Amino acid sequence: MRGQIEFFFSPKTVVVVGASRKPGKVGYELLRNLRETFRGVLYAVNPEAKEILGVPCYPNLASVPGDIDVAVVSVPAEKVLEVAEEAGKRGVKGLIVISGGFKEVGAEGLERERKLIEIVKKYGMRLIGPNCVGVYVPKTGMNTLFLSKERQGYPSHGFIAFASQSGAFGSAVLDWAAMRGIGISKFVSYGNKADVDEIDVLLYLKNDDDTRVITLYIEGLENGTEFFKVLREVTKYKPVVILKSGRTEAGARAASSHTGSLAGSDAVYDAVFKQSGAIRAYSMEELFDLAMGLAMQPPAAGDRVVILTVGGGSGVMATDALSELGLKVPRLSDSTVNKLRKVLLPFASPFNPVDVTGSAVDEHLVEAIDILLTSEDQVDAVMWLPYYMVPGITPELNKKFLERVKKVFRETNRVVPIVGVATGGSYTAIYAKEAESMGIPMYVSPERAAKVIKALVDYGRWLKRTGYFDYHIERFRRTFLTH
Ligand code: COA
Repeated sequence: MRGQIEFFFSPKTVVVVGASRKPGKVGYELLRNLRETFRGVLYAVNPEAKEILGVPCYPNLASVPGDIDVAVVSVPAEKVLEVAEEAGKRGVKGLIVISGGFKEVGAEGLERERKLIEIVKKYGMRLIGPNCVGVYVPKTGMNTLFLSKERQGYPSHGFIAFASQSGAFGSAVLDWAAMRGIGISKFVSYGNKADVDEIDVLLYLKNDDDTRVITLYIEGLENGTEFFKVLREVTKYKPVVILKSGRTEAGARAASSHTGSLAGSDAVYDAVFKQSGAIRAYSMEELFDLAMGLAMQPPAAGDRVVILTVGGGSGVMATDALSELGLKVPRLSDSTVNKLRKVLLPFASPFNPVDVTGSAVDEHLVEAIDILLTSEDQVDAVMWLPYYMVPGITPELNKKFLERVKKVFRETNRVVPIVGVATGGSYTAIYAKEAESMGIPMYVSPERAAKVIKALVDYGRWLKRTGYFDYHIERFRRTFLTH
């Protein structure tokens, strides 16, 4: 049963129980979202209505026709058990319980949640929630969030899955991801996780073809031992980036009153994340910075980084940022330096950082990357700082650069991760976005890019230890070189 939750993400039939006739109420906005995007069959249950927003409405689940995959429950907590019992009798596969008023509110709620689990088990159903916003899947239009599209952005389809215990934070992240243009494969918020939890989600996403990287926001874990066992297995196949809050004593207390979770000692989490091959993020931006990098680039075979820059100052900042994270920025061999001297301007710096200077033209960056990627020096990762605003750089740079990188990857048996930095304003942003659409993740500062390279190095180390490094390199070759 663990991980068998596909029907929540691509159901054929969904029923909203507690659909409301009144705009602005949770049960109304939820139905409105589903009605606009869901591509399957949709029904509503409300004892007072025949239809809401054009969706056929029934007085109870028993009178809804046909098979039901998912019932989204948005009635007050006191009525949830009755609805769950009805759903079980009706053969509903899964419940998504949006309602609050369970474990998170103390003894009475805890008892209600216990009974809910009992009913769900009795009928062999699965349950997401209670106290959650449920799921959002751009590909199938399954969206159980109750936040209207006028107020909340919904990202388009992409290769990052995001699972969050918190519904509000999860929704805010979706909104931000939509604005930033980050695509999502699956989003799930499981709230009190009375049944479906991180373990189910990890096991499911491990085999989900649409997901390249799994990101998790967690406050605490109930089944730590099982979670880490599963995590260790999943990270061999896909990177898992985790943002865990409740790091401080006061934060742990807040987590406990939010979803009733035990946050546990942060140092223990930190150690076990590392031992399980997961990558830890410390903020929302970092979670997605790392996810983008890990989704778009291969793991690094070692920790030797070469910086290829158009600006000297950024090169120095990049060197600091990488060194502070324990990565190496080694001097290049004489042979590589000589090759670079031959193609770069006389006043360019052919060491590491390789600084092509503000007088550079596209070809300097293109020839330099070729030399670096084919050099006898063991280059494990490249930080690329193109500076689109300098006069000799043309709008064709990204295309020429990427073509050369791909040519080298095709002709040699090595691939290395390339992570870009584009510090600048609106002109720069256009070309940074273009580079990203071509497969190179771009960041606004060397510090942010350095953390991504560190994640690629750490992940590479984990994959080498577990014997899955080559599997990832092959997969990268298949996706990147055919892109
Ligand atoms: N079956 C189906 N529909 C029912 C019903 C039943 N047994 N009993 C009542 N309803 C209908 C109501 O008539 C109402 O429709 P109407 O507005 O057209 O009259 C609708 O279901 C909702 O019921 P209502 O009593 O008005 O509840 P509500 O909308 O005020 O609150 C919740 C319901 C679930 C939103 C609220 O209890 C709750 O838990 N809010 C918190 C949600 C939250 O934050 N979740 C976590 C997010 S992270």
